[in-house]
Amino acid sequence: MTGPLKAKLEILSDPETMARRVAEWMIELANAKDGTFAVCLSGGSTPQLFYEHLAESPYLGRFPWERTHWFWGDERFVPRNDALSNYRMVRVALLSHAPIPATNIHPIPTEGLSPDAAASAYEDELKSFYGAERLDPARPLFDVNLLGLGSDGHTASLFPGNAVLAERDKWVSAVIGAKPEARITLTYPPLESSRQVAFLVTGEQKRTIFNRLARGGENLPAARLRPTGMLTWFVDRAAAGAKK
Ligand code: 6PG
Repeated sequence: MTGPLKAKLEILSDPETMARRVAEWMIELANAKDGTFAVCLSGGSTPQLFYEHLAESPYLGRFPWERTHWFWGDERFVPRNDALSNYRMVRVALLSHAPIPATNIHPIPTEGLSPDAAASAYEDELKSFYGAERLDPARPLFDVNLLGLGSDGHTASLFPGNAVLAERDKWVSAVIGAKPEARITLTYPPLESSRQVAFLVTGEQKRTIFNRLARGGENLPAARLRPTGMLTWFVDRAAAGAKK
């Protein structure tokens, strides 16, 4: 893809085909790397089908679950069993169906503490996993970071016009007021610190925002991401507005 999104673009015919393509892509990356494989998960509804497929045959038996660690790019500040919870969505779609060691699952805390305390607790967890206080461009935090795209151009819980967009020191921040529920989000530096970053975008309702991004020239949160590694857009035809 030329223009501002200097990235690889894959247009898939439909959400089902895209979910299977992303499963193959993820398995290839995980098996091409020795040792720990770190994944940052997206919330929202779009990645759910991919999560479900990864935990099923023919993908389940080909993924290195024992050495993969799972993190979240953002969370709605609600109890873990709440229908809005990104952790719950991933647990139902993936975690409860795959042989994942409990110590490999790193949800964002949302119970028994304030949003700010949750953000700093998760920053500590990321830094202890990473093994350093500062991100080294030569040693990305994640192997794969999955992101979604909101109709307003937000990604993770980085919303247009929000002060968190300018945050380059803190790794995790609470976002209050952008949504009815408080949000906890990784900031740009850790989201960018990944060997592979992939946006998953499906549905006609995303066509306008995707084309605005593709045209470029707008300072939308999703467009401001500057990954240290490779950026890929997995987009279905309905969102891309691509003809058959
Ligand atoms: C969240 C997400 C958010 C999401 C977009 C797209 O917690 O909601 O992290 O950034 O990816 O809002 O959401 P849909 O996939 O539901 O359209």
